[in-house]
Amino acid sequence: MDLATRPYRSVLYIPGSKDRALDKARMLQTDAIIFDLEDAVAPEAKAEARETLKEALQTDGYGKRAKIVRINALTSQWGFEDVRVLRDAGADIFLLPKVNNPTDVDALADLLDPAMPIWVMMETPMCVFRAPEIAAHQRVTGLVTGTNDLTKDLGCRYRPDRLPLMTALQRIVMAARASRGVVAIDGVYNRFRDGDGLKAECEQGRDLGFDGKTLIHPMQIEVTNTAFAPSESEIDLARRQIAAFEESQASGQGVAVVDGQIVENLHVVAANRTLAKVDAIAQMAAE
Ligand code: COA
Ligand code: MG
Repeated sequence: MDLATRPYRSVLYIPGSKDRALDKARMLQTDAIIFDLEDAVAPEAKAEARETLKEALQTDGYGKRAKIVRINALTSQWGFEDVRVLRDAGADIFLLPKVNNPTDVDALADLLDPAMPIWVMMETPMCVFRAPEIAAHQRVTGLVTGTNDLTKDLGCRYRPDRLPLMTALQRIVMAARASRGVVAIDGVYNRFRDGDGLKAECEQGRDLGFDGKTLIHPMQIEVTNTAFAPSESEIDLARRQIAAFEESQASGQGVAVVDGQIVENLHVVAANRTLAKVDAIAQMAAE
């Protein structure tokens, strides 16, 4: 499936060391998987996790789910070996953590096949400041918000409304949108058994413009997939907007009115995007 048009509603982290979770993920309704070698894997387990993950990727069975490998930073003692072992194991995307500037991305790009897309963890204050340059990097096709690391580095507090992170969240979405075709993924919701809290945070991230959310547990998938998919009423409205606009154009008018709201060409562009997303989700579900 074309990486530019596929859905990225739910992006599940799986520790590369956890055999059972790696296997279980072959059955989960997640759009993408981040196979993690970084923070979810303890230092003493890194070497074994690389091999476990390599085997899981080579065995595959993950269907249409995007396979994203998160390596350790290249400034750490593990990063280069992560790349060496996993470079040709079957990943769709490499995800680089602790990025501060575009040259950090260059360092990984130099080690990978030129066709391998790179996603970046947006999780340091400097990275957020330099978000436009990082998103504009030729090899970067996705930004993943690291809200826990950002909260730690900023010294801010966790709040349900995420007010202390709002500037960062918006900068990340803006940077992705300023570089066409770059995917923007929201951070994780730590209280993974709290479905109501997750739903509220998903809806907030969606309303801010994120394409999807990173998850830590399978029980978060369904809520997230629903929140980031167009609703029935949104689909219905999109169809009616397109039809009304076409009708008004045919009668020589530039705009239409639907449900008491103006419909201009730009609304039609958005409506078509909604329907394209519905198609992409349907394709994902069709095995
Ligand atoms: N991906 C796939 N499967 C997962 C999973 C994940 N992220 N997290 C849990 N599961 C599986 C478990 O393997 C278990 O399967 P089993 O019943 O077949 O053994 C099942 O889901 C239930 O797990 P549960 O007992 O509810 O979770 P836990 O208490 O063992 O683990 C966490 C909770 C948070 C430690 C675990 O979900 C996890 O490691 N998440 C990923 C953390 C991560 O990657 N962090 C880095 C980025 S922030
Ligand atoms: Mg992090």
